[in-house]
Amino acid sequence: MKKFLKISGIIFSAILLFMFLGYSYLMTKYPKVPPAPDIKISSSPEMIERGRYLANSFAVCMDCHSKRDFSKFAGPLVPGTEGMGGEDFGEEAGYVPAKNITSDKETGIGNWTDGEIFRAITMGVDKNGEPLGPMMPYMYYRNMDENDVKSIIAYIRTLAPIKNKVEDHKFNFPVNLIFRTLPTEPQFKNIPSADKKTELGEYYAGACKVCHSPMEKGEFIKEKFLSGGVEFPGPKGGKVRSANITPDKETGIGNWTKDQFIKKFKSYTLPESQNIPVKDGEFNSIMPWTFFGQASEEDLGAVYDYIMTQKPVSNKVEKYTP
Ligand code: HEC
Ligand code: HEC
Repeated sequence: MKKFLKISGIIFSAILLFMFLGYSYLMTKYPKVPPAPDIKISSSPEMIERGRYLANSFAVCMDCHSKRDFSKFAGPLVPGTEGMGGEDFGEEAGYVPAKNITSDKETGIGNWTDGEIFRAITMGVDKNGEPLGPMMPYMYYRNMDENDVKSIIAYIRTLAPIKNKVEDHKFNFPVNLIFRTLPTEPQFKNIPSADKKTELGEYYAGACKVCHSPMEKGEFIKEKFLSGGVEFPGPKGGKVRSANITPDKETGIGNWTKDQFIKKFKSYTLPESQNIPVKDGEFNSIMPWTFFGQASEEDLGAVYDYIMTQKPVSNKVEKYTP
């Protein structure tokens, strides 16, 4: 018995030692990212305009980093809150609020260098090199066109400073350790030229894929790509599920013409459709219609062309349960 206790004592100490070594290793060796690059982003009016376009539509920066009014359908942006942050995206991972990305020097990112912002967006670490949660979707931004990232930064720099102190994230164990291993160096891709419609559509469809495709262990399930049913907490209670947007004719959007598709998005930019009241317990969508509606007809058309090249998947989705 004594011997057994002694052996299990040794094993226990060994396990503790391994855990401690593993922990120190993760804390000191990760995240594995280089220092912030020494870049100075010129901000021509064209770049700012390009950045404004992306940050408010396909790149969805402004939809996470501003206040949205979910007493109205699809939660349009509350004017005057652009970039102030505060909304919690943590769910099971802990408390992970979107940060203040306005140019305020104390509570925003006004005193970050261009390189530090560039590294945050494309590698997933903050000013001090500490990991950001992947709710900030740097895993996708690291595959963008480098010039588009720079344009977004040029635009972010123009956001009026808003004083809003957002608390630091609090990750739960063990995700706090896992998140340390995720930041990596970016792998930029060039934006496809305008005549390559489906490639261009795929480039813009990053956020669509994420919300509309069921995942397993952080990877898309191939046979269910774009088939919807991904569940989100409803902004007014209940559960909201993303639609099947595969070209399946019965359960997807296979019967939509390109024109109908574009018009559906564009309809949410009309003042009256930004002002549809939704009561508690009623269906409200988290699909950022009012943001994507700002995209151009050409680019929305390209996204449609891309979606239509994908495999139809039969999956009937109930969009809402109270
Ligand atoms: C799905 C929501 C979401 C989207 C989309 C998003 N962010 Fe974030 N962002 C977050 C969250 C949440 C954090 C905080 C992460 C953390 O603290 O771990 C964050 C952090 C940041 C930070 C770090 C700020 C700091 O003080 O640490 C920057 C910079 C940033 N985001 C810029 C952007 C830009 C630019 C875009 C668009 C290209 C964008 N974000 C898109 C949710 C989002
Ligand atoms: C934040 C998650 C989210 C993102 C990002 C998102 N969607 Fe959605 N989408 C939803 C949800 C949830 C619904 C179901 C509710 C509704 O119809 O508004 C939906 C509905 C739709 C519908 C309506 C389909 C139908 O049968 O009525 C279309 C079309 C669509 N999305 C296309 C897209 C495209 C294209 C993109 C990318 C440009 C995209 N979505 C990005 C969550 C998202």
